[in-house]
Amino acid sequence: MQNMKLSAPDIIAKKGVGKITMLTAYDASFARMLESAGVDMLLVGDSLGMVVLGYESTVPVTMDEMIHHAAAVRRGAPGTMLVGDMPFLSYQVSKKEAVANAGRFFKEAACDAVKLEGGHEVCKAVRAIIDAGMPVMGHIGLTPQTAGKLGGFKVQGKDVESARRLLEEAKALEGAGVFSLVLECIPDGLANIISEAISIPTIGIGAGAGCDGQVLVTHDLLGLFEKFVPSFVKNYINLAPEIKKAVASFMAEVKDGSFPDKDHSFPLQIDPSDIFKCADDKTKCTK
Ligand code: KIV
Repeated sequence: MQNMKLSAPDIIAKKGVGKITMLTAYDASFARMLESAGVDMLLVGDSLGMVVLGYESTVPVTMDEMIHHAAAVRRGAPGTMLVGDMPFLSYQVSKKEAVANAGRFFKEAACDAVKLEGGHEVCKAVRAIIDAGMPVMGHIGLTPQTAGKLGGFKVQGKDVESARRLLEEAKALEGAGVFSLVLECIPDGLANIISEAISIPTIGIGAGAGCDGQVLVTHDLLGLFEKFVPSFVKNYINLAPEIKKAVASFMAEVKDGSFPDKDHSFPLQIDPSDIFKCADDKTKCTK
């Protein structure tokens, strides 16, 4: 299926019309497959740090790493709306740095939007980036960059006070101009309340079926990341064991000599003795 590349206003227009799909991508091959499957948006998430770069959390991810991978995703999926995830400390220090770093996603990786985590504390940065002409996606609930402050990777908004705070943050981000809002790891009933209270689409991850769209980390959906699997993730296929099986077969066949066979080799189409003639006396070389 071929996508018609969506824009931020197209995503807003989908509110109440149909469900929005977003998946993470970190390289051109996956981006190509996800684009041909017809996903609405691709997110170069800072989950890159954990699923691809092998960090323990998303905190160490740098702007340069994000740009490197976002540019690869853009090359693989030129026709899909691409969202670049702003890494930790790329938007908190000052509005000026936030705008400059958001700009790198647009100038160096041809992204169509950026995403950043946080509530009231990031509204000024959100406004500054939007004022500079770049659409912004918000992200509240469990925000992995500041998971320590939230007491770890836990469901957020379980008590009245934190549920109210999340509702207020959603409204503040809508007021600041975000075109959509990721709700991560919050109770489904609270996600429903937030989704009804704001006019921009909510994109849920561990937030139940009432959101206007859903996002998953592609490596989780495909069963490629075995280190841990959050309980809200559905493995649509479990590829890691299949990959290990294929690699074991390759090694066994190399060792027993059955790979490469004739079908996977190039037959020599010259007389081998000519090679030696040629080496001995260049005047006797045949073409
Ligand atoms: O980094 C990421 O992949 C994300 C999604 C889980 C929303 O932020």
